[in-house]
Amino acid sequence: MVRTTEPKRADSSKETEQGSHHHHEVFSAEKAGRLDTRLRYFLYRPDILAERLVKPGDHVLDFGCGPGFFTREFAKRAGDNGKVIAVDLQEGMLRILREKMEREGLLHRVMIHQCPPDSISLPPGYDGTVDVACAIFVVHEVPDPVRLFGEMYRLLRPGGLFFYTEPFYVVPGREFREHLKEAENAGFEVVKRHLFFLNRAAHLRKAV
Ligand SMILES: C[S@@+](CC[C@H](N)C(=O)[O-])C[C@H]1O[C@@H](n2cnc3c(N)ncnc32)[C@H](O)[C@@H]1O
Repeated sequence: MVRTTEPKRADSSKETEQGSHHHHEVFSAEKAGRLDTRLRYFLYRPDILAERLVKPGDHVLDFGCGPGFFTREFAKRAGDNGKVIAVDLQEGMLRILREKMEREGLLHRVMIHQCPPDSISLPPGYDGTVDVACAIFVVHEVPDPVRLFGEMYRLLRPGGLFFYTEPFYVVPGREFREHLKEAENAGFEVVKRHLFFLNRAAHLRKAV
């Protein structure tokens, strides 16, 4: 695991507001079990999402991966020639993810990276190497989405895809649209907006 700095305490941040961005409490690793359930599998069908977003051989960034509910399907789909970079700020989430991937024979396809709260902080060698980046139910927990979108943009290769989704009951439509504008300011083109089960979602692309 690439360790960068101490993460902030998972339960220390109450909801705060910065411009249009409502910064919510980080989802505690103590509740990680709730993120990997059969119900969630049937609601979100991470296998179908992986098939749509990822091609065999792709390098996928799963930012805010939690205990690996989506990471697992991205790793299966990327195959032995691909790679998933699983990034989270909580060591507890990444410990569960590591054990799970090992048990399921997928660990060799996953690079695990613990980041600080305000940055993805992957080494510069990763710039321009990512085919598909995902931020699934995490941006509302991030203190500085503008910085995050800038980093995502830098990490993606030209033509790379960014899948961004937020829970509808946490992030209102206006806030989601403003975040999409910020992503456009970072250089992304919004390819399409849609619902991911009941959640707000968008596909964005870095220009070729
Ligand atoms: C609600 S969970 C979603 C996990 C996963 N994407 C899923 O849907 O199964 C949000 C995750 O984002 C992580 N997270 C929150 N803020 C973060 C930050 N600033 N940088 C990296 N990860 C963060 C949390 O630790 C948690 O694992």
